[in-house]
Amino acid sequence: MPRVPTPSWRCLPALLLGSALLALPVAFARAPEAPAPVAGTSVHDAALGRPQGAAIASAHAEATAAGMAVLRAGGNAFDAAVAVSATLGLVEPESSGLGGGGFFLLRRASDGHTVFIDARERAPLAATRDMYLDPATGQPKPRATIDGALAAAIPGQPAALVHVAENFGRLPLRESLAPAIRLAERGWRFGEKNLAMLGWRKEALRADPGAAALFLVDGEAPRLGARMRNPDYAATLRLLAEYGHDGFYRGPMAQRLVDAVRAAGGIWTLDDLAQYRVVERRPLVFQHRGMSIVTAPPPSSGGIALAQTLQILDGYDWAAKNPTQRLHLRVEAMRRAYRDRAVYLGDPDFVTVPVERLVHPAYAAGLRAGIHLQRATPSDLLPGIAALPERPDTTHFSIVDAEGNLAAVTQTVNLPFGNAMVVPGTGFLLNNEMDDFSIKPGVPNAFGLVGKEANAIEPGKRPLSSMTPTLVIGPERVAVIGTPGGSRIISMVIQALLDFEAGADARAIVAAPRLHHQYLPDHILVEPGSLDPAIRAALEAKGHTVKEETRSWGNMQVVIWHRADGRTEAGADPRWEAVGKGATSEAGGIFR
Ligand code: DON
Repeated sequence: MPRVPTPSWRCLPALLLGSALLALPVAFARAPEAPAPVAGTSVHDAALGRPQGAAIASAHAEATAAGMAVLRAGGNAFDAAVAVSATLGLVEPESSGLGGGGFFLLRRASDGHTVFIDARERAPLAATRDMYLDPATGQPKPRATIDGALAAAIPGQPAALVHVAENFGRLPLRESLAPAIRLAERGWRFGEKNLAMLGWRKEALRADPGAAALFLVDGEAPRLGARMRNPDYAATLRLLAEYGHDGFYRGPMAQRLVDAVRAAGGIWTLDDLAQYRVVERRPLVFQHRGMSIVTAPPPSSGGIALAQTLQILDGYDWAAKNPTQRLHLRVEAMRRAYRDRAVYLGDPDFVTVPVERLVHPAYAAGLRAGIHLQRATPSDLLPGIAALPERPDTTHFSIVDAEGNLAAVTQTVNLPFGNAMVVPGTGFLLNNEMDDFSIKPGVPNAFGLVGKEANAIEPGKRPLSSMTPTLVIGPERVAVIGTPGGSRIISMVIQALLDFEAGADARAIVAAPRLHHQYLPDHILVEPGSLDPAIRAALEAKGHTVKEETRSWGNMQVVIWHRADGRTEAGADPRWEAVGKGATSEAGGIFR
């Protein structure tokens, strides 16, 4: 892969001042869709030092173990990312898998090169803007973007595994995929989280013979702890190991997928699969209180919203603010960032996203000027369009290896168990990522998010995402952060960054009670029992509506590397411990 000159991180302010073009705290460029890798950014000091050991945080102990095994076998963080990703697709099928997509944000220690590998699903080439609307009424057809073949976009996950292994890894795919292949053949244990999510999707899974055969026992959920074998999944991974990209996107697998999707009413073609490529994009990079934040560019909305929110907050004397004032300002900043998400953001290969403007400090200053220190701004007063509810699927993992390579990966099939369709013989579910498009201006998707033209369906376009894998490179500590949670991903990552900045460790960051606001609906959501009654009353006195959710949300995975002594730590979200040892309880392993 191309190497680019690496300016010293400490020289960055001088470089930025020296160039009008670069006089923005954010570096971003559009990258054309192309199979060949393009240069990423190298804005940080290549030599961050070396950790004492590696750390992996993932949503499942088996996936963390697979990553550790690959590190022990001589792989780097990127080989481990392939192993963790492929294993999560097996043991957490409700959240991500070969039929879905994701974002791999990587930083290579040897030269400081950072790259955002966009393996987001694409709309089929035969997709049309109004394909989910009833021609007679003009209204959305019920569940058409949720269940079944028409809901599925063209998967990007297999292409990502091959691309990461070939361009960044050290081991052949055969080795990095070996733990997942073994586990698929021997069987894995059906856990609490699997069971909880399956409960929500049982009817849809029943309706598809392939999915029912793989995930149900006589039409019912498997019992907790049941051994789940998936030899078809192992066979699909072997195809990738043996034939690389083409093992999935051409030949018998492609034919099998297209035939089954079309027979079930979908519109995929062989061309759709043959044309699929990951896109290497420049990460969005900005400075925040002495730290470099490296995060997701479009087609994710996350990085821009993160940059906007933090730049608005940068204008306040944060240390002087009490907890209520901080929460008030955070909510007001997020309200404005989520509004812009709905209006401006979409696939940068199809629409012009005004990234530079949105993340410019002057724009943040303008937004800040509209914030009243004592009063909430009703969202109705901000021009824009509306927006919520939520299911905890999707998955994120964070890795630092002993050389200092970093991987932040968020991957998904969208709603739990994706579109609930398994093409027989493949071993994986297809996604329902088409639901992330704005199928009609103003009509909210499953996360209550609305959009406009920028995120309308077009053939080959990637739907707008909220997934926000993020690297934080500070003078003393480096963090790798991310989480599932649909529209709430962004507010969780914002909170994690503020907590990291305040000195919290990995476990404290992932365990912290969560608070969310997404512009519309116009209320602050808090996790059950998490907000001090006095602070709640103070927020309400400022005009905020505070709503306590019935359930907690998110599944955040964080690793931290202390640059002074090389120590590493991992924090796996404890929220799923309550429902199963199979989920996060052992996932934050550290390998030395
Ligand atoms: O890309 C997105 O923003 C969504 N497809 C992510 C879905 C998600 O995080 C679901 N988890 N609660």
